[in-house]
Amino acid sequence: MKILVTGGAGFIGSAVVRRAIAKGHQVVNLDALTYAACLDNVASVADDPGYAFEQADIRDRAALDRIFAAHDPDAVMHLAAESHVDRSIDGPGTFIETNVMGTFQMLEAARAHWVQKGRPESFRFHHISTDEVFGSLPADPEVQFTEDTPYDPRSPYSASKAGSDHLVRAWHETYGLPVVLTNCSNNYGPFHFPEKLIPVIILNALAGKPLPIYGDGSNVRDWLYVEDHADALLLAVEKGTVGRSYNIGGENERSNLELVKTLCAILDRMRPKDAGSYADQITFVTDRPGHDARYAIDPARIREELGWRPSVTVEEGLEKTVAWYLDNEPWWRALQDRQGVGERLGVKA
Ligand SMILES: NC(=O)c1ccc[n+]([C@@H]2O[C@H](COP(=O)([O-])OP(=O)(O)OC[C@H]3O[C@@H](n4cnc5c(N)ncnc54)[C@H](O)[C@@H]3O)[C@@H](O)[C@H]2O)c1
Repeated sequence: MKILVTGGAGFIGSAVVRRAIAKGHQVVNLDALTYAACLDNVASVADDPGYAFEQADIRDRAALDRIFAAHDPDAVMHLAAESHVDRSIDGPGTFIETNVMGTFQMLEAARAHWVQKGRPESFRFHHISTDEVFGSLPADPEVQFTEDTPYDPRSPYSASKAGSDHLVRAWHETYGLPVVLTNCSNNYGPFHFPEKLIPVIILNALAGKPLPIYGDGSNVRDWLYVEDHADALLLAVEKGTVGRSYNIGGENERSNLELVKTLCAILDRMRPKDAGSYADQITFVTDRPGHDARYAIDPARIREELGWRPSVTVEEGLEKTVAWYLDNEPWWRALQDRQGVGERLGVKA
């Protein structure tokens, strides 16, 4: 399959690009190379004959039309987005422009391409979204997000992603575009940009800096190893039912405080401090405005219909992740100088 991947120089997109090439697909990586992008993430496949890169903005319809015509993809995996909740609190405009208007332009360009090809049923527009569109769950472990959970986004980021999900469903219902949607939980793993919780904790720990925990650390997330997610996404684009959405979760619920303590214990083993534990650096800071209490995914549909399940527990995935950061210092050092990285964002509200 020839797949046009948007956002393929980002964290999850690059895992998809690497995995798709390994599975024998051809990939066109379309990315604007914003502050969150890093082409080193796809360096391992950059010379593969099945790989091509196009620097373009998903809001630029003329560029999209040129890229669809030049590469004639069989499927689109749409990951390009503004993705950091804290940045969406400080500057929501870019999130609406990229996540809503950019998705609109992608849908229109994909639809024109699909019509021009004769409306093949085999074409896919796979939209990659988040569990944050469902809002916040109570602590009751029996309650999880399913594909039928009503939308209730509560941050500018999740509202912009919810808007894009609605557009994708509408383009299927109205124009018949063969779409598939996935909504996943918090990802972590290699190449995670150093402004997100797990890399911040690892890198601050190594630098001897405070390990910031928002509020009291009781917020619960369902952690998904990025390479397991990339496998699930490829299954969804290859075998997912048209018009259907699939929730993808790691079945690994942890509070932020538990997660940080686990990371500290792994670091204590892999890179012991001269004295004490990395956990001594834990510091509680002002909470994020509107911080959702709990996310948890019921992944029964993708497990039963597509045969996917996560391959690692959160402890195994975190071990691999810490080892990767310890082995790849030049990668993260280069990104730490980028605008806003390392600063506390999202407290203006
Ligand atoms: N990271 C998570 O835990 C998570 C969880 C659920 C869903 N998602 C979704 O998965 C997708 C990828 O997330 P990520 O964490 O890899 O994001 P990321 O921020 O690491 O990467 C986003 C990529 O999109 C590109 N991009 C941004 N704006 C663009 C534009 N206007 N035109 C073209 N390219 C543009 C960036 O350059 C970057 O390479 C997003 O749609 C996000 O909403 C992420």
